[in-house]
Amino acid sequence: TAIPVITIDGPTASGKGTVAHRVADRLGFHYLDSGALYRLTALTALRHGTALSDEHGIAKTAEKLPVRFAGDAMWLANENVTDAIRAEDVGNMASKIAALPTVRHALTGLQLGFRKAPGLVADGRDMGTVIFPQAILKVFLTASVEARAERRYKQLIGKGFAANMEDLLKDLRERDARDSNRAIAPLKPAEGAHILDTSAMTADEAVEQVLKWYAAAR
Ligand code: C5P
Repeated sequence: TAIPVITIDGPTASGKGTVAHRVADRLGFHYLDSGALYRLTALTALRHGTALSDEHGIAKTAEKLPVRFAGDAMWLANENVTDAIRAEDVGNMASKIAALPTVRHALTGLQLGFRKAPGLVADGRDMGTVIFPQAILKVFLTASVEARAERRYKQLIGKGFAANMEDLLKDLRERDARDSNRAIAPLKPAEGAHILDTSAMTADEAVEQVLKWYAAAR
């Protein structure tokens, strides 16, 4: 029988990472944070000074990422970059390179490889629409831009980064527009996706809802 996949797509800071991770833990499934792959590519491109106009160069970087996943930690060669990829400038660069078709193509195989028994929970923008269209359960997780800015603010401060609420709101709006309006794999609910607005919900409440949907779908 096919290995089950649950996709959780949604905008930046909607809480989909936390929810997807906890759902994976509860089911004993593997977890794919696809945004991290775009962030790892962006971090490498920023460090190498690769220009955004050099699509081929960035795609090469994506194809050859010396990435290693160790539990929740991510390593690039010998460096633990788990925190470094969460910086705002890396997120902004990630959303820019994510609009490049060859970069998305270069990261596709890596993402498909995460589908292993007993199952996978994958979070991102196009998990249900492009990468795992056959998923048994598709969720579109969203929240108001204000709720998301507040969550991102707490996350950044908690990790020791500087943060400013006005800048975060502006960044989120810009990134939403970029992710939703791009020609390739734009952020939108997959056909048949369950929409979950978490503005007034705790992460655990969202997890329970997803598990209920999964129980009903399998
Ligand atoms: O989810 P996260 O904020 O870590 O993703 C960083 C960027 O990577 C997003 O702004 C988005 O543009 C891009 N991304 C994507 N497709 C995915 C996951 C992330 O285009 N599946």
